[in-house]
Amino acid sequence: MIDSNIMLKLLDVDKSYSDNRVLCKLNLELPTAHCIGIIGKNGTGKSTILKIICGFITKFEGLCYKNFKTFSALIENPHFIDGLTGRDNIKYILNKKDADNAILLVSDFGIGDYLDRSVRRYSMGMKQKLALAITFARDSELYLLDEPFNSIDYETVTKIINIINSKRVAGKSIITVTHNMSRIQDYCNKIYQLKNGVLCANEHTVTNSLKQKSFLIKFANLNDISFAKSVIGEFSCKESYQENSIIVKAIEDDISSIIKRLADYSLIGITEIKDDNNI
Ligand SMILES: Nc1ncnc2c1ncn2[C@@H]1O[C@H](COP(=O)(O)OP(=O)(O)OP(=O)(O)O)[C@@H](O)[C@H]1O
Ligand SMILES: [Mg+2]
Repeated sequence: MIDSNIMLKLLDVDKSYSDNRVLCKLNLELPTAHCIGIIGKNGTGKSTILKIICGFITKFEGLCYKNFKTFSALIENPHFIDGLTGRDNIKYILNKKDADNAILLVSDFGIGDYLDRSVRRYSMGMKQKLALAITFARDSELYLLDEPFNSIDYETVTKIINIINSKRVAGKSIITVTHNMSRIQDYCNKIYQLKNGVLCANEHTVTNSLKQKSFLIKFANLNDISFAKSVIGEFSCKESYQENSIIVKAIEDDISSIIKRLADYSLIGITEIKDDNNI
């Protein structure tokens, strides 16, 4: 038995895939009405933790005590029936009341015009917004969110953070796993780093590579600034028009993917990149 104010407890959880030991006697306690953030690099086992919690993975050692009956989970990439519209996918997955909530959320996330179009025509960010709307539309005791801000524009990230905070205030519990620390303090009560199969809560154990820095990215063309901001919307960005640049807050590991993403959009006019030691 666990305390009624504890929603979930993982005790000495060990998980291996063949000879790849991913979680090593991992412990975690999630109090009711809390949002826990788990950060970790690619392949450290973040999604594995969520799959164990929601029962997608049953083969593991240790204990997973569950004090909840209902949960909503968005784990890894969302999957839909591509030939159906967004609205029909929602109706297929949710009951009438939850479907109505999801439709309102989809509009709030700015893709209402796409509700009656085939999901095949959705961009990555649109699919992620549809998946988030479906996840939040259900009134559950626990929400499990795997990289919720993937491909999401800054404005909608703020809306999602507000939803997470209002769920928490309403007594729900949330676990968010991510490799992106951007804005994590805006929605998590407690942040853990997943490293070598265990969770470390102490802020001092967060390695330098996971600490946020400011990066200044300078462009040749003034018009690139607002486009660049929209392309990397999930990161906190400030524009500096005098300097033809944006200042992005991100961890060092993310900066190469930011540059690659800008390059993918043919924003080739980058003239300079500096970190906060040199800004
Ligand atoms: N079904 C599987 N079979 C074998 N190995 C797996 C399987 N799923 C995950 N793994 C391995 O387990 C480790 C943890 O994977 P997991 O998906 O949990 O990592 P993650 O932290 O979520 O990574 P990412 O940030 O890339 O999403 C990785 O080394 C991965 O290769
Ligand atoms: Mg993952």
